[in-house]
Amino acid sequence: MAESLGIALVGCGTVGTGVARILTEHAGRMTARAGGRSLVLRHLVVRDLAKPRDVVVPGAAVGTDWRAAVADPAVQIVVELIGGTTIAKDVVLAALAAGKHVVTANKALLAAHGFELFEAARKAERVICFEAAVAGGIPIIRALGESLAANQITGIQGILNGTSNFILSAMAESGTSYSDALKEAQRLGYAEADPTLDVDGSDAAHKLAVLAQIAFGVTAQPGDIEKQGIAGIDAMDTRFAAELGYTIKLLAEAWVADKTVALHVAPVLLRRTDPLAQVRGAFNAVLVTGDVVGETLFQGAGAGMMPTASSVVADILDIAVGRAQKTFAAAKLWSGKTEFALAPSDKVRSRFYLRALVRDEPGVLADVCRCLANERISIASIIQHEAVESPALSADLPAGRTGENQPILMVPLVIMTHVAETGRFRAAAKALAKLPGVCGPAVFFSVDD
Ligand code: NAP
Ligand code: HSE
Repeated sequence: MAESLGIALVGCGTVGTGVARILTEHAGRMTARAGGRSLVLRHLVVRDLAKPRDVVVPGAAVGTDWRAAVADPAVQIVVELIGGTTIAKDVVLAALAAGKHVVTANKALLAAHGFELFEAARKAERVICFEAAVAGGIPIIRALGESLAANQITGIQGILNGTSNFILSAMAESGTSYSDALKEAQRLGYAEADPTLDVDGSDAAHKLAVLAQIAFGVTAQPGDIEKQGIAGIDAMDTRFAAELGYTIKLLAEAWVADKTVALHVAPVLLRRTDPLAQVRGAFNAVLVTGDVVGETLFQGAGAGMMPTASSVVADILDIAVGRAQKTFAAAKLWSGKTEFALAPSDKVRSRFYLRALVRDEPGVLADVCRCLANERISIASIIQHEAVESPALSADLPAGRTGENQPILMVPLVIMTHVAETGRFRAAAKALAKLPGVCGPAVFFSVDD
Protein backbone atom coordinates (compact mmCIF):
# COMPACT_ATOMS: atom_id res chain seq x y z
CA MET A 1 0.00 0.00 0.00
CA ALA A 2 1.25 3.51 -0.87
CA GLU A 3 2.57 5.59 2.01
CA SER A 4 0.15 8.20 3.41
CA LEU A 5 0.97 11.90 3.36
CA GLY A 6 0.66 13.95 6.55
CA ILE A 7 -0.57 17.53 6.32
CA ALA A 8 -0.47 20.41 8.80
CA LEU A 9 -3.03 23.13 8.03
CA VAL A 10 -1.69 26.33 9.57
CA GLY A 11 -4.74 28.62 9.44
CA CYS A 12 -8.31 27.36 9.34
CA GLY A 13 -10.31 30.44 8.40
CA THR A 14 -12.14 30.92 5.10
CA VAL A 15 -9.71 29.04 2.86
CA GLY A 16 -8.43 26.58 5.48
CA THR A 17 -11.97 25.47 6.25
CA GLY A 18 -12.53 24.80 2.54
CA VAL A 19 -9.33 22.75 2.33
CA ALA A 20 -10.27 20.70 5.40
CA ARG A 21 -13.72 20.09 3.94
CA ILE A 22 -12.39 18.83 0.61
CA LEU A 23 -9.84 16.55 2.27
CA THR A 24 -12.40 15.05 4.66
CA GLU A 25 -15.57 15.01 2.52
CA HIS A 26 -13.80 13.69 -0.62
CA ALA A 27 -11.10 11.53 0.96
CA GLY A 28 -11.61 8.63 -1.46
CA ARG A 29 -11.31 10.87 -4.52
CA MET A 30 -8.20 12.49 -3.04
CA THR A 31 -6.48 9.14 -2.47
CA ALA A 32 -7.24 8.08 -6.05
CA ARG A 33 -5.87 11.37 -7.45
CA ALA A 34 -2.80 11.13 -5.18
CA GLY A 35 -1.72 7.86 -6.78
CA GLY A 36 -3.15 5.77 -3.95
CA ARG A 37 -1.61 7.82 -1.11
CA SER A 38 -4.11 8.86 1.52
CA LEU A 39 -3.90 12.53 2.50
CA VAL A 40 -4.08 12.72 6.29
CA LEU A 41 -4.86 16.03 7.94
CA ARG A 42 -2.84 15.73 11.15
CA HIS A 43 -2.94 19.30 12.52
CA LEU A 44 -5.27 22.28 12.32
CA VAL A 45 -3.58 25.38 13.70
CA VAL A 46 -5.69 28.42 14.60
CA ARG A 47 -5.32 31.55 16.71
CA ASP A 48 -8.49 31.30 18.80
CA LEU A 49 -9.51 27.82 19.97
CA ALA A 50 -12.86 29.11 21.24
CA LYS A 51 -14.03 30.25 17.79
CA PRO A 52 -16.74 28.02 16.30
CA ARG A 53 -15.54 26.10 13.19
CA ASP A 54 -17.58 24.92 10.22
CA VAL A 55 -15.58 21.75 9.83
CA VAL A 56 -14.72 18.77 12.00
CA VAL A 57 -11.69 16.69 11.09
CA PRO A 58 -11.67 13.36 12.93
CA GLY A 59 -8.18 12.46 14.14
CA ALA A 60 -6.63 15.90 13.56
CA ALA A 61 -5.04 17.75 16.49
CA VAL A 62 -6.46 21.26 16.83
CA GLY A 63 -4.11 23.73 18.48
CA THR A 64 -2.50 27.14 18.42
CA ASP A 65 1.16 26.08 18.31
CA TRP A 66 2.25 26.16 14.67
CA ARG A 67 5.83 25.24 15.59
CA ALA A 68 4.73 21.91 17.08
CA ALA A 69 2.61 21.15 14.01
CA VAL A 70 5.43 21.99 11.60
CA ALA A 71 7.94 19.91 13.58
CA ASP A 72 5.76 16.78 13.71
CA PRO A 73 7.72 14.02 11.85
CA ALA A 74 4.39 12.63 10.59
CA VAL A 75 3.83 15.84 8.58
CA GLN A 76 5.27 16.10 5.07
CA ILE A 77 3.31 19.11 3.78
CA VAL A 78 2.67 22.39 5.61
CA VAL A 79 -0.21 24.43 4.20
CA GLU A 80 0.18 28.08 5.21
CA LEU A 81 -3.20 29.83 5.25
CA ILE A 82 -2.87 32.42 7.98
CA GLY A 83 -2.03 35.34 5.65
CA GLY A 84 0.21 38.35 6.28
CA THR A 85 3.95 38.58 5.86
CA THR A 86 5.36 38.12 9.36
CA ILE A 87 4.30 34.90 11.13
CA ALA A 88 3.45 33.38 7.74
CA LYS A 89 7.06 33.89 6.66
CA ASP A 90 8.33 32.22 9.86
CA VAL A 91 5.97 29.29 9.25
CA VAL A 92 7.19 28.78 5.68
CA LEU A 93 10.88 29.07 6.55
CA ALA A 94 10.49 26.74 9.53
CA ALA A 95 8.61 24.20 7.42
CA LEU A 96 11.32 24.20 4.73
CA ALA A 97 14.08 23.97 7.33
CA ALA A 98 12.29 20.94 8.79
CA GLY A 99 12.22 19.31 5.35
CA LYS A 100 8.51 19.85 4.62
CA HIS A 101 6.98 20.93 1.33
CA VAL A 102 4.90 24.11 1.49
CA VAL A 103 1.59 25.08 -0.07
CA THR A 104 0.41 28.66 0.34
CA ALA A 105 -2.26 31.03 -0.98
CA ASN A 106 -0.37 34.04 0.32
CA LYS A 107 0.41 36.43 -2.54
CA ALA A 108 1.46 39.23 -0.17
CA LEU A 109 4.13 36.94 1.27
CA LEU A 110 5.40 35.84 -2.15
CA ALA A 111 5.48 39.40 -3.46
CA ALA A 112 7.43 40.65 -0.45
CA HIS A 113 9.75 37.70 0.28
CA GLY A 114 9.63 35.39 -2.76
CA PHE A 115 13.37 35.56 -3.31
CA GLU A 116 14.29 34.51 0.23
CA LEU A 117 11.62 31.82 0.44
CA PHE A 118 12.45 30.20 -2.89
CA GLU A 119 16.16 30.29 -2.10
CA ALA A 120 15.38 28.46 1.15
CA ALA A 121 13.22 25.92 -0.69
CA ARG A 122 15.95 25.16 -3.23
CA LYS A 123 18.47 24.77 -0.42
CA ALA A 124 16.15 22.38 1.44
CA GLU A 125 15.28 20.55 -1.80
CA ARG A 126 11.61 21.09 -1.09
CA VAL A 127 8.90 22.93 -3.06
CA ILE A 128 6.63 25.89 -2.53
CA CYS A 129 3.34 25.63 -4.44
CA PHE A 130 1.01 28.62 -4.73
CA GLU A 131 -1.75 28.07 -7.31
CA ALA A 132 -4.32 29.68 -4.99
CA ALA A 133 -2.28 32.86 -4.57
CA VAL A 134 -3.52 34.40 -7.82
CA ALA A 135 -7.11 34.42 -9.07
CA GLY A 136 -8.47 31.92 -6.50
CA GLY A 137 -9.93 28.94 -8.32
CA ILE A 138 -8.53 29.77 -11.79
CA PRO A 139 -5.47 27.62 -12.59
CA ILE A 140 -3.51 30.60 -13.91
CA ILE A 141 -0.19 29.71 -12.26
CA ARG A 142 -0.01 26.36 -14.03
CA ALA A 143 -1.35 27.84 -17.27
CA LEU A 144 1.29 30.54 -17.37
CA GLY A 145 4.19 28.45 -16.08
CA GLU A 146 3.46 25.16 -17.83
CA SER A 147 0.73 25.15 -20.46
CA LEU A 148 1.97 28.36 -22.15
CA ALA A 149 5.65 27.46 -21.74
CA ALA A 150 6.25 27.58 -25.51
CA ASN A 151 5.47 31.31 -25.56
CA GLN A 152 7.11 34.54 -24.71
CA ILE A 153 4.31 36.30 -22.89
CA THR A 154 3.79 39.78 -24.37
CA GLY A 155 0.93 41.09 -22.26
CA ILE A 156 -1.25 40.35 -19.24
CA GLN A 157 -4.49 42.08 -18.35
CA GLY A 158 -6.34 40.77 -15.33
CA ILE A 159 -9.20 41.35 -12.99
CA LEU A 160 -7.32 39.92 -10.03
CA ASN A 161 -9.14 41.23 -6.99
CA GLY A 162 -12.54 39.67 -6.37
CA THR A 163 -13.50 42.13 -3.65
CA SER A 164 -12.95 45.19 -5.87
CA ASN A 165 -14.78 43.59 -8.75
CA PHE A 166 -17.64 42.65 -6.42
CA ILE A 167 -17.88 46.27 -5.20
CA LEU A 168 -17.69 47.80 -8.68
CA SER A 169 -20.31 45.35 -10.01
CA ALA A 170 -22.69 46.10 -7.12
CA MET A 171 -22.23 49.87 -7.56
CA ALA A 172 -22.83 49.72 -11.32
CA GLU A 173 -25.63 47.17 -11.38
CA SER A 174 -27.74 47.87 -8.32
CA GLY A 175 -26.55 51.27 -7.14
CA THR A 176 -25.27 49.72 -3.88
CA SER A 177 -23.07 52.11 -1.93
CA TYR A 178 -19.34 51.48 -1.81
CA SER A 179 -19.37 50.77 1.93
CA ASP A 180 -22.36 48.39 1.82
CA ALA A 181 -20.78 46.44 -1.03
CA LEU A 182 -17.49 46.16 0.87
CA LYS A 183 -19.29 44.88 3.97
CA GLU A 184 -21.02 42.22 1.90
CA ALA A 185 -17.71 41.14 0.29
CA GLN A 186 -16.27 40.76 3.80
CA ARG A 187 -19.27 38.74 4.95
CA LEU A 188 -18.86 36.40 1.98
CA GLY A 189 -15.17 35.77 2.83
CA TYR A 190 -13.72 37.49 -0.27
CA ALA A 191 -11.86 40.31 1.44
CA GLU A 192 -8.43 40.20 3.05
CA ALA A 193 -8.18 40.44 6.85
CA ASP A 194 -7.27 44.10 6.17
CA PRO A 195 -9.64 45.05 3.30
CA THR A 196 -7.58 48.16 2.54
CA LEU A 197 -5.29 45.81 0.63
CA ASP A 198 -8.21 44.89 -1.64
CA VAL A 199 -9.55 48.36 -2.38
CA ASP A 200 -6.25 50.26 -2.65
CA GLY A 201 -4.92 47.94 -5.37
CA SER A 202 -2.26 46.28 -3.16
CA ASP A 203 -3.71 42.77 -3.39
CA ALA A 204 -3.95 42.98 -7.20
CA ALA A 205 -0.37 44.35 -7.27
CA HIS A 206 0.87 41.41 -5.17
CA LYS A 207 -0.79 39.02 -7.62
CA LEU A 208 0.61 40.89 -10.62
CA ALA A 209 4.08 40.62 -9.06
CA VAL A 210 3.62 36.84 -8.85
CA LEU A 211 2.43 36.59 -12.48
CA ALA A 212 5.31 38.82 -13.63
CA GLN A 213 7.77 36.50 -11.90
CA ILE A 214 6.40 33.53 -13.83
CA ALA A 215 5.95 35.28 -17.18
CA PHE A 216 9.07 37.48 -17.25
CA GLY A 217 11.28 36.31 -14.38
CA VAL A 218 11.23 39.84 -12.96
CA THR A 219 11.14 40.32 -9.20
CA ALA A 220 8.86 43.30 -8.69
CA GLN A 221 8.77 44.52 -5.13
CA PRO A 222 5.38 45.93 -4.11
CA GLY A 223 6.75 49.49 -4.54
CA ASP A 224 7.78 48.75 -8.16
CA ILE A 225 4.18 48.42 -9.28
CA GLU A 226 2.29 51.65 -9.82
CA LYS A 227 -1.10 51.21 -8.24
CA GLN A 228 -4.36 53.02 -7.86
CA GLY A 229 -7.34 51.38 -6.17
CA ILE A 230 -11.08 51.78 -6.46
CA ALA A 231 -11.64 54.06 -3.47
CA GLY A 232 -11.50 57.20 -5.66
CA ILE A 233 -14.26 55.97 -7.98
CA ASP A 234 -17.39 57.97 -7.39
CA ALA A 235 -20.91 56.84 -8.26
CA MET A 236 -20.92 59.62 -10.86
CA ASP A 237 -17.91 58.03 -12.64
CA THR A 238 -19.83 54.77 -12.88
CA ARG A 239 -22.76 56.68 -14.42
CA PHE A 240 -20.60 58.71 -16.83
CA ALA A 241 -18.76 55.57 -17.91
CA ALA A 242 -22.12 53.88 -18.61
CA GLU A 243 -23.31 56.94 -20.56
CA LEU A 244 -20.20 56.65 -22.74
CA GLY A 245 -20.69 52.89 -23.26
CA TYR A 246 -18.04 51.72 -20.80
CA THR A 247 -17.71 49.80 -17.55
CA ILE A 248 -15.04 50.56 -14.94
CA LYS A 249 -12.88 47.62 -13.85
CA LEU A 250 -9.81 47.41 -11.65
CA LEU A 251 -7.18 45.92 -13.97
CA ALA A 252 -3.70 44.63 -13.25
CA GLU A 253 -1.64 44.98 -16.40
CA ALA A 254 1.79 44.03 -17.70
CA TRP A 255 2.91 45.81 -20.86
CA VAL A 256 5.97 44.55 -22.69
CA ALA A 257 8.09 46.79 -24.94
CA ASP A 258 11.37 45.39 -26.26
CA LYS A 259 13.00 43.91 -23.16
CA THR A 260 11.15 46.03 -20.64
CA VAL A 261 7.93 45.40 -18.81
CA ALA A 262 5.69 48.02 -17.20
CA LEU A 263 3.45 46.80 -14.40
CA HIS A 264 0.51 48.70 -13.02
CA VAL A 265 -2.85 48.36 -11.29
CA ALA A 266 -5.56 50.94 -11.89
CA PRO A 267 -9.23 51.37 -12.71
CA VAL A 268 -9.76 51.22 -16.48
CA LEU A 269 -12.78 52.03 -18.64
CA LEU A 270 -13.56 48.98 -20.76
CA ARG A 271 -16.09 48.88 -23.61
CA ARG A 272 -19.23 47.20 -22.31
CA THR A 273 -18.76 44.46 -24.94
CA ASP A 274 -15.19 43.67 -23.85
CA PRO A 275 -15.02 40.15 -22.32
CA LEU A 276 -13.31 41.56 -19.22
CA ALA A 277 -16.11 44.13 -18.79
CA GLN A 278 -18.55 41.27 -18.44
CA VAL A 279 -16.76 39.68 -15.51
CA ARG A 280 -19.06 40.30 -12.56
CA GLY A 281 -19.09 39.88 -8.80
CA ALA A 282 -16.14 38.16 -7.17
CA PHE A 283 -15.15 36.52 -10.46
CA ASN A 284 -11.66 37.08 -11.84
CA ALA A 285 -10.37 36.89 -15.40
CA VAL A 286 -6.91 36.98 -16.91
CA LEU A 287 -6.22 37.76 -20.55
CA VAL A 288 -2.76 36.47 -21.44
CA THR A 289 -1.13 37.21 -24.79
CA GLY A 290 1.69 34.97 -25.99
CA ASP A 291 3.81 35.37 -29.12
CA VAL A 292 2.84 31.91 -30.38
CA VAL A 293 -0.62 31.25 -28.99
CA GLY A 294 -2.10 34.75 -29.32
CA GLU A 295 -4.76 35.69 -26.77
CA THR A 296 -6.06 33.27 -24.13
CA LEU A 297 -8.68 34.20 -21.57
CA PHE A 298 -9.02 32.47 -18.19
CA GLN A 299 -12.08 33.15 -16.08
CA GLY A 300 -13.59 31.83 -12.87
CA ALA A 301 -14.19 32.37 -9.19
CA GLY A 302 -11.35 34.54 -7.94
CA ALA A 303 -12.03 34.44 -4.20
CA GLY A 304 -14.04 32.60 -1.59
CA MET A 305 -13.80 29.41 0.41
CA MET A 306 -14.28 26.50 -1.97
CA PRO A 307 -12.81 27.92 -5.23
CA THR A 308 -9.62 28.91 -3.43
CA ALA A 309 -9.47 25.60 -1.56
CA SER A 310 -9.80 23.82 -4.92
CA SER A 311 -6.45 25.33 -5.99
CA VAL A 312 -4.78 24.61 -2.64
CA VAL A 313 -5.77 20.95 -2.79
CA ALA A 314 -4.57 20.68 -6.41
CA ASP A 315 -1.13 21.74 -5.15
CA ILE A 316 -1.22 19.09 -2.41
CA LEU A 317 -2.07 16.47 -5.04
CA ASP A 318 0.75 17.68 -7.30
CA ILE A 319 3.20 17.18 -4.44
CA ALA A 320 1.72 13.78 -3.60
CA VAL A 321 2.36 12.43 -7.10
CA GLY A 322 5.74 14.16 -7.48
CA ARG A 323 4.68 16.51 -10.28
CA ALA A 324 5.33 19.68 -8.29
CA GLN A 325 8.88 18.61 -7.48
CA LYS A 326 9.69 18.38 -11.22
CA THR A 327 8.07 21.67 -12.26
CA PHE A 328 9.53 23.51 -9.25
CA ALA A 329 13.06 22.50 -10.18
CA ALA A 330 12.58 23.43 -13.85
CA ALA A 331 10.89 26.80 -13.32
CA LYS A 332 13.69 28.43 -11.26
CA LEU A 333 11.32 31.08 -9.93
CA TRP A 334 12.64 33.97 -7.85
CA SER A 335 16.19 33.12 -8.87
CA GLY A 336 17.00 36.55 -10.32
CA LYS A 337 17.32 35.21 -13.88
CA THR A 338 15.56 37.49 -16.36
CA GLU A 339 16.08 39.23 -19.70
CA PHE A 340 13.53 41.90 -18.74
CA ALA A 341 13.94 45.17 -16.91
CA LEU A 342 11.10 46.89 -15.12
CA ALA A 343 9.98 50.15 -16.73
CA PRO A 344 7.67 52.93 -15.53
CA SER A 345 4.34 53.08 -17.32
CA ASP A 346 4.96 56.67 -18.52
CA LYS A 347 5.47 55.54 -22.12
CA VAL A 348 2.39 53.30 -22.24
CA ARG A 349 -0.08 54.86 -24.71
CA SER A 350 -3.78 54.99 -23.93
CA ARG A 351 -6.91 57.04 -24.24
CA PHE A 352 -8.01 58.69 -20.99
CA TYR A 353 -11.20 59.54 -19.12
CA LEU A 354 -10.86 62.65 -17.00
CA ARG A 355 -13.47 63.95 -14.58
CA ALA A 356 -13.07 67.15 -12.64
CA LEU A 357 -15.44 69.24 -10.59
CA VAL A 358 -15.17 72.71 -12.05
CA ARG A 359 -16.69 76.13 -11.43
CA ASP A 360 -19.37 76.84 -13.99
CA GLU A 361 -17.75 80.15 -15.01
CA PRO A 362 -16.27 81.76 -18.13
CA GLY A 363 -12.82 80.54 -19.14
CA VAL A 364 -12.70 77.41 -16.95
CA LEU A 365 -13.26 74.97 -19.80
CA ALA A 366 -10.71 76.85 -21.92
CA ASP A 367 -8.13 76.59 -19.09
CA VAL A 368 -8.72 72.85 -18.70
CA CYS A 369 -8.40 72.30 -22.45
CA ARG A 370 -5.17 74.34 -22.48
CA CYS A 371 -3.61 72.01 -19.88
CA LEU A 372 -4.24 69.09 -22.21
CA ALA A 373 -3.15 71.01 -25.33
CA ASN A 374 0.14 71.98 -23.63
CA GLU A 375 0.93 68.24 -23.40
CA ARG A 376 -0.23 67.77 -27.02
CA ILE A 377 -3.22 65.69 -25.90
CA SER A 378 -6.16 65.79 -28.24
CA ILE A 379 -9.73 65.81 -26.88
CA ALA A 380 -12.14 63.26 -28.33
CA SER A 381 -15.34 64.32 -26.51
CA ILE A 382 -16.60 66.43 -23.63
CA ILE A 383 -19.63 66.01 -21.35
CA GLN A 384 -20.85 68.79 -19.12
CA HIS A 385 -24.47 68.52 -18.01
CA GLU A 386 -26.27 71.52 -16.63
CA ALA A 387 -26.25 70.82 -12.90
CA VAL A 388 -29.67 72.34 -12.29
CA GLU A 389 -31.25 70.10 -14.89
CA SER A 390 -29.64 66.97 -13.53
CA PRO A 391 -30.72 66.30 -9.95
CA ALA A 392 -28.86 62.98 -9.92
CA LEU A 393 -25.62 64.81 -10.66
CA SER A 394 -26.19 67.85 -8.51
CA ALA A 395 -26.79 65.51 -5.57
CA ASP A 396 -23.14 64.44 -5.93
CA LEU A 397 -21.78 67.98 -5.81
CA PRO A 398 -20.34 69.50 -2.66
CA ALA A 399 -21.95 72.80 -1.61
CA GLY A 400 -19.80 75.90 -2.09
CA ARG A 401 -20.15 79.62 -1.47
CA THR A 402 -18.30 82.73 -2.55
CA GLY A 403 -17.18 85.48 -0.17
CA GLU A 404 -20.40 87.38 -0.95
CA ASN A 405 -22.37 84.36 0.20
CA GLN A 406 -23.37 83.61 -3.39
CA PRO A 407 -23.58 79.89 -4.17
CA ILE A 408 -20.75 78.70 -6.39
CA LEU A 409 -22.11 76.58 -9.18
CA MET A 410 -19.90 73.56 -9.70
CA VAL A 411 -20.38 70.94 -12.36
CA PRO A 412 -18.63 67.72 -13.22
CA LEU A 413 -16.71 68.02 -16.46
CA VAL A 414 -15.84 64.81 -18.26
CA ILE A 415 -13.28 64.70 -21.04
CA MET A 416 -12.39 61.69 -23.17
CA THR A 417 -9.04 62.06 -24.91
CA HIS A 418 -7.46 60.51 -27.96
CA VAL A 419 -4.46 58.23 -27.41
CA ALA A 420 -1.63 59.87 -25.46
CA GLU A 421 1.43 58.83 -23.49
CA THR A 422 0.58 58.16 -19.84
CA GLY A 423 3.42 60.42 -18.68
CA ARG A 424 2.07 63.36 -20.70
CA PHE A 425 -1.42 62.78 -19.39
CA ARG A 426 -0.18 62.69 -15.80
CA ALA A 427 1.63 66.01 -16.37
CA ALA A 428 -1.58 67.55 -17.77
CA ALA A 429 -3.60 66.28 -14.81
CA LYS A 430 -1.05 67.82 -12.41
CA ALA A 431 -1.30 71.21 -14.15
CA LEU A 432 -5.08 70.98 -14.17
CA ALA A 433 -5.20 70.38 -10.41
CA LYS A 434 -3.57 73.81 -9.91
CA LEU A 435 -6.24 75.72 -11.85
CA PRO A 436 -8.39 78.00 -9.66
CA GLY A 437 -11.53 76.88 -11.49
CA VAL A 438 -10.96 73.20 -10.66
CA CYS A 439 -12.30 72.12 -7.27
CA GLY A 440 -10.43 69.23 -5.72
CA PRO A 441 -8.33 66.62 -7.49
CA ALA A 442 -9.36 65.44 -10.93
CA VAL A 443 -10.05 61.76 -11.39
CA PHE A 444 -8.56 60.05 -14.43
CA PHE A 445 -8.59 56.52 -15.71
CA SER A 446 -7.20 55.00 -18.87
CA VAL A 447 -9.65 53.82 -21.50
CA ASP A 448 -9.16 50.50 -23.24
CA ASP A 449 -11.00 50.30 -26.56
P1 NAP B 1 -8.85 34.12 7.39
O1 NAP B 1 -10.24 33.73 7.13
O2 NAP B 1 -8.57 35.39 8.11
O3 NAP B 1 -8.14 32.91 8.14
C1 NAP B 1 -6.89 33.02 8.73
C2 NAP B 1 -6.68 31.82 9.64
O4 NAP B 1 -5.38 31.89 10.20
C3 NAP B 1 -7.65 31.76 10.84
O5 NAP B 1 -8.02 30.43 11.06
C4 NAP B 1 -6.81 32.28 12.01
O6 NAP B 1 -7.21 31.76 13.25
C5 NAP B 1 -5.46 31.76 11.63
N1 NAP B 1 -4.36 32.53 12.20
C6 NAP B 1 -4.08 33.83 12.02
N2 NAP B 1 -2.96 34.17 12.71
C7 NAP B 1 -2.56 33.05 13.34
C8 NAP B 1 -1.48 32.74 14.19
N3 NAP B 1 -0.61 33.66 14.57
N4 NAP B 1 -1.36 31.46 14.65
C9 NAP B 1 -2.24 30.53 14.30
N5 NAP B 1 -3.29 30.76 13.46
C10 NAP B 1 -3.43 32.00 13.01
O7 NAP B 1 -8.03 34.23 6.03
P2 NAP B 1 -8.39 33.55 4.63
O8 NAP B 1 -9.36 34.41 3.91
O9 NAP B 1 -8.67 32.12 4.79
O10 NAP B 1 -7.00 33.77 3.86
C11 NAP B 1 -5.88 32.96 4.12
C12 NAP B 1 -4.81 33.21 3.06
O11 NAP B 1 -5.35 32.88 1.78
C13 NAP B 1 -4.36 34.67 2.95
O12 NAP B 1 -2.99 34.69 2.60
C14 NAP B 1 -5.19 35.21 1.80
O13 NAP B 1 -4.58 36.30 1.14
C15 NAP B 1 -5.24 34.00 0.91
N6 NAP B 1 -6.37 33.95 -0.01
C16 NAP B 1 -7.64 34.15 0.45
C17 NAP B 1 -8.71 34.04 -0.43
C18 NAP B 1 -10.12 34.26 0.01
O14 NAP B 1 -11.01 34.30 -0.85
N7 NAP B 1 -10.39 34.42 1.29
C19 NAP B 1 -8.47 33.73 -1.77
C20 NAP B 1 -7.16 33.52 -2.19
C21 NAP B 1 -6.11 33.63 -1.31
P3 NAP B 1 -8.66 32.07 13.85
O15 NAP B 1 -9.64 31.36 12.95
O16 NAP B 1 -8.63 31.47 15.22
O17 NAP B 1 -8.82 33.56 13.83
N1 HSE C 1 -9.09 39.31 -1.13
C1 HSE C 1 -8.82 38.61 -2.33
C2 HSE C 1 -9.77 39.07 -3.41
C3 HSE C 1 -8.97 37.13 -2.12
O1 HSE C 1 -10.76 39.73 -3.08
O2 HSE C 1 -9.51 38.80 -4.57
C4 HSE C 1 -8.48 36.34 -3.30
O3 HSE C 1 -7.09 36.41 -3.40
